[in-house]
Parts: sequence; C-alpha cells; structure tokens
Amino acid sequence: MKIAFAKPSLPIEGAIAVAVLEGKVMSVSARKLDDETKGALGRAISTSRFEGKKGQTLMILAPAGLSVSRVLLIGLGKAKDIDALGAQAFGGAAVAQLLTSGETEAVLAVDPVDGSALSTAEFAAQAGFGARMRSYRFDKYMTKQKKEDKPSLKKVVIQADAAADAKAAFVRLDKVADGVFLTRDVVSEPANVIHPESLAAMAETLKDLDVEVEVLGEKQMKKLGMGSLLGVGQGSERESKLVIMRWFGSAEKDSAPVAFVGKGVTFDSGGISIKPSGGMEEMKWDMAGAGAVIGAMKALAGRKAKVNAIGVIGLVENMPSGAAQRPGDVVTSMSGQTIEVINTDAEGRLVLADALWYTQDRFKPKFMIDLATLTGAIVISLGNEYAGLFASDDTLADRLAAAGKAVGEQLWRLPMGEAYDKQIKSDIADMKNTGGREGGSITAAQFLKRFTNDVAWAHLDIAGMAWSKKDAATCPKGATAFGVRLLDRLVADFYEDKAGK
Ligand code: BES
Ligand code: MN
Ligand code: ZN
Repeated sequence: MKIAFAKPSLPIEGAIAVAVLEGKVMSVSARKLDDETKGALGRAISTSRFEGKKGQTLMILAPAGLSVSRVLLIGLGKAKDIDALGAQAFGGAAVAQLLTSGETEAVLAVDPVDGSALSTAEFAAQAGFGARMRSYRFDKYMTKQKKEDKPSLKKVVIQADAAADAKAAFVRLDKVADGVFLTRDVVSEPANVIHPESLAAMAETLKDLDVEVEVLGEKQMKKLGMGSLLGVGQGSERESKLVIMRWFGSAEKDSAPVAFVGKGVTFDSGGISIKPSGGMEEMKWDMAGAGAVIGAMKALAGRKAKVNAIGVIGLVENMPSGAAQRPGDVVTSMSGQTIEVINTDAEGRLVLADALWYTQDRFKPKFMIDLATLTGAIVISLGNEYAGLFASDDTLADRLAAAGKAVGEQLWRLPMGEAYDKQIKSDIADMKNTGGREGGSITAAQFLKRFTNDVAWAHLDIAGMAWSKKDAATCPKGATAFGVRLLDRLVADFYEDKAGK
C-alpha cells in the first residue's frame, strides 16, 4: 500500500476519512463535507451512537451531494489528549475499515485541532505511519482467498496544509515501518521455513543497507567455547548459527556501540523436557527477540541513524532426538561458567548466555539490551499489556521505559537481587538453568545477568507481547514486531550524534 501526502482538495471519487472530536465536534474537513451534503454527516451522527470518542468510527455510504463513494468519520477523543499514538490510531482505523472494502484509494483529511499539542504536520506523518502499520498482511500461504477478502486499498493520500513537512517527517517513520514489516514477516513464517540457516539468510539481506553481517556456524562457535548455546541446538537436524550485524552510523567510527541481543529459537519443542502438544505450534515465534533485533537494525540502517549499533542473534532449534541434550547435563559456556541443565525447555537463557558474553567480550558496548520470549511466567505476571523489564542500570531502564511509552510498547520493571540469584545455585555446577516456579521470570533474568560481565544491561521478556490474538489500532492480529519501534526510539532520543552534544 502506498502512502502519499498532498494539500487538501476534495477527492472526486473513492473514500474520504475525516476526524471528529469527542462531543461530536467535527473537524474543519468534516464540517465542509457536512455543508456540501446539506447536513448528512450531522444527521448520521445523531442517528447513531457515534460521539467522536477515541477509536469510534462511522461509515456513511454514497452521501448525496458528493462524488465520493463514502465518508468515514473517525473519533479522536479529546483534543488535549491527542498524541502521536492517537494520530497513528486515526490512520490505522481508516485502513482497518477500508482495506478490504473494495475501495482502491482513500483520502485522510488532517486538520489543525484547537487545543492539541501535536502539530498538524506531525499528526499527518504519524497518521501515515499508523495507516501503513495497520495495512500489514501475512497471507502468502492463502491460495484460496475469496476476492472480497483480499485487500483492495492500494493508496492512501494524507491531506494536510503542512503536506511538505508531513512528508519529510514520514521518511524516517517509513523506514521504521520497513523494519517492523521484516520482523512481522520472519516471526509469522512457520518453523519449516524459518530455521537458523534461513533466518540468518534473512539477516544477510541487510547488507543491501550497508549493514555488515557475519554468520558463525557450529564449528566456529565450538572454537569460541559456546557450549551453552550449542547444547540447545544439538538435538536438531538444523545447524545452529550466531549472526552479528553491525551498523556504523556515528561520525565517530570508533565510539562504543549500543548492542542488541536476540533470542532466536526458531522452534521450541522444549527438547527432552518436551512441551505439551496443545499450543505448541505457537513456539514457531520463539525467535521474536531475534526478529525484533533484525527489524531494529533494518530501521536504524534504513534511516541512516547516527549511531554505532550491533545486533547479535543466537539461532537454534530446540528439538528432542537421540542427540539432544538431557536434563542433568552440565555444559560449559563461553564465559567459562558451567551450567547444570535441569530443564531443556529453559533453553532461551542458555542461548543468550553465550550471545551476551560474546557481545560484551568482542564489542565492549555502551550497553546491551536483550529481547527474548523467555518465560511463560511473564505472561502470568503482566499479561499482554507490558513486557517485563529487568536491568542492572537505572538510567538505561528509565530511558527504555520512556521510549516504550512514547511508541506504545510498554515496559514494566521487575526487581532483581541476590535473594533471587540464590535460587539458581546448583549442587554440581556454577549454576542451574531453572530456579523453580517462584519468580520464574526474575530467576531467568538473574541467570542472564551472570553473563553480562557487569556491562550496563537490560533484558526485555517479550513472551506476552510478540504475538497478538486480536487486532490492535496499528497492528493486525499475529506478529507484532514488539521492540522494533522501541529500540529505534531509544536510539533516536538518547544515543544518536546530535549537533552541539
Ligand atoms: N519459549 C518459552 C517461553 C514462552 C512461553 C514464550 C509462552 C512464549 C509463550 C521458554 O523457552 C520456556 O519454555 N520457558 C519455560 C521455562 C521453565 C522451564 C523454567 C516456561 O516459561 O515454562
Ligand atoms: Mn522453552
Ligand atoms: Zn523458548
């Protein structure tokens, strides 16, 4: 779907979406249409329960007096509450209503709103972003889709007086959307298509954006001593991989990079500690952390972010077989620390242990942030509203939480400490890979912390956020790409070269 920006002018045909504020207050464009239809919009509003509340929509078909095929009214809520996310929701709502409506083109009218802190240009750009985000589809395996179920909408034109400024602001957002779409694609793919090798190949496509991409295989990882990661993959027919992506965007080529580390378990059967079969198919998206890291690197490189950034993803398939790791096995990680594997289903932390150690050892980053669908326990704690945030550095934690709030990817910080760390003491090795049911997400974080070598670090447990069972304002159900917008925003707000800084 194409997004364009233009100065306001009434469309001859197709659909037009206009905003209405809470209390049935029509925007300038809505009022204009109301005049031209001799009050049809006002009549439609008073006949319905539409009040202009945030998220409400009302469709008016073939209004007399206009050549357009339909007018879509979209509620914005209260003027003072309109923010970037509200503008995105406006664009998203329009696309949700029109994508398969039969319309091929739609105009979104963006007017100045009295009492809103958001500029019209920014509103328009964010509406374009929301529209594109909501247009995502993963239907490549649907060979029998009915015509009426297929998307018809090809083009969305955002109309605003500040079209030129909006278009300029959209350039950057469009690159973020590219990253989000790549992540949604790889997370949506089934595990017979996305496995360590093919996911590494997807990461290698970032070379087109001047990202340096290296792929290590099992032989190289063995040499590095990555017994923890390799143990997880040893039951699989697929070769485990470690992918390193490097983007040098800072004017200071040697400045310490920021580093993102992703859990990339392309399928998590649980291994010998096998999972129950109900719902096991969901474990194709146990690589969503790695997917988010790839997407974030794509966004940063795509918009030529002035930052040095490293992305490291550990790619394995966790399978039971005669070669698989057993409960009770002891493995030696790259850090030299030994781990007693109590449960082969607590595999994500084993993968990240070596990926984190490798990242700090080789790149000496400013900080490391890992993203992982790590524990079922975080879904019990926070549901599908917040990702769990764990950190050894308060500034990093605060910045992450702020960036998350700004982009609508919310984080909730959980505690860490020595008392929790005790739960992973082993009788025969330096630690064990599970700490019991109590505080399961926290003991997983304590485990990871032991592989950070005291580099500033944050861990995002995204198990409840990577996949959505229902449509949201700017995300159809399915893979959400949680983390891409968050990391992009974190970098943009806090870690890019800035004039005079
Ligand atoms: N990939 C799972 C966690 C998960 C669960 C992600 C549900 C998304 C939705 C992880 O590898 C896992 O199996 N964790 C275990 C750990 C336990 C064995 C200590 C869990 O959470 O049950
Ligand atoms: Mn598991
Ligand atoms: Zn897992």
